[in-house]
Amino acid sequence: MKENTRTLNKKFESGERLTWLTCYDYSFARVIESTDIDMILVGDSGGMVALGYKDTTPVTMEEMIMLSSAVRRGAPNKFIVGDMPKGSYEVSDEDAVRNAMRFVKESGCDAVKLEGDNEKILSRVKAIVESGIVVIGHIGLTPQSLAQQGGYRVVGRDKKEISRLEDGVRSLIKSGVFSILLEAVPPNLAQKISSESNIIIFGIGAGEFVHGQLLILHDLIGLYPDFRPKFAKCFVPQIISKYEEGKTNILENIEAFKNDGVFYISKLAIEAFVIDVKNSKFPSDQFSYKNN
Ligand code: KIV
Repeated sequence: MKENTRTLNKKFESGERLTWLTCYDYSFARVIESTDIDMILVGDSGGMVALGYKDTTPVTMEEMIMLSSAVRRGAPNKFIVGDMPKGSYEVSDEDAVRNAMRFVKESGCDAVKLEGDNEKILSRVKAIVESGIVVIGHIGLTPQSLAQQGGYRVVGRDKKEISRLEDGVRSLIKSGVFSILLEAVPPNLAQKISSESNIIIFGIGAGEFVHGQLLILHDLIGLYPDFRPKFAKCFVPQIISKYEEGKTNILENIEAFKNDGVFYISKLAIEAFVIDVKNSKFPSDQFSYKNN
C-alpha cells in the first residue's frame, strides 16, 4: 500500500518511530522500495553526493525535478518529499507555489520541504499549504544558509537560539506544516520540542528522542567519504560484523547476495537502520551531539 499522510500519522500516533532516507536515483529507489523505510527525501544534498557540487547552493529546480522523477519511478509506493533548492522559494509566494507544484505534477512527489522559519518563509509555507501541497519544515542547521549561520555547527546551544527554535516550531505548526525536521540540534532540546509537539518531529543529528530519524543514503552505505558529520553512521560494518558473528541472514540469502551484490548489501544496511530506529538503538551517544 502506498504511504500517505494518514498512514504516517497512524504510525506516529501508535508511538512507532518513523524512518526517512534520502535518495537521488532510480536504482537506489528500487532498493529502498524493497525495505520498510517510511519516507524518502530527494534532498538537495544530491547536489553534493550525486552531482559533485561542493555544497547545495548551485542546485536548480531542473536538477531536482530530474532526480525526484527518477526516484518516483523506482519507488512507486513510498512517500516522497522533494527538497526545494535555494532560490526556488525565497523571492515570492507565487514562485514558491509554482515550484512546489512542479515537484508534485512533474515528479509525482507527495510533499515538499523548505528551510527556515522567518516571516517570509512562514508566508511561503502558508501559500504552498493553501495550494493543497503537503509541506515539511526544516530548522536548526539549515545548509542553504550556512554562511549566515557561521558554517556547520550545532544550533540551539544558547538561550537566544533555544527560544528562536521553540518559536520556530510553533510558527511552522501554525502555518500548516505536516511535520518538521530538526537538523543538528542538542538532543535534550529536540526531546523537549518533540514531547510538546502534536505533529511528527524528525531529527538528523538531533539525538534519539524525536519521532523519526532522517539519514543521508550515501552516509548509511558509506558512499560519500568527503564529509562525515557526527550523526552520519555507515551501517555496512554492522552487517559485516553480524555476518562474522553468525548472527545475520547473509548466508541464508547467499543466492540473493551472489545475484544482486550492491543491491542486496544496501538493502541489508537500510534494514539495519530501520530496525535500530524502531528499537531506539539509533542514534546512540556515539552518533549524537552533546546535550546542553
Ligand atoms: O538535502 C538534504 O538531504 C537535507 C538534509 C541534509 C536534511 O536537507
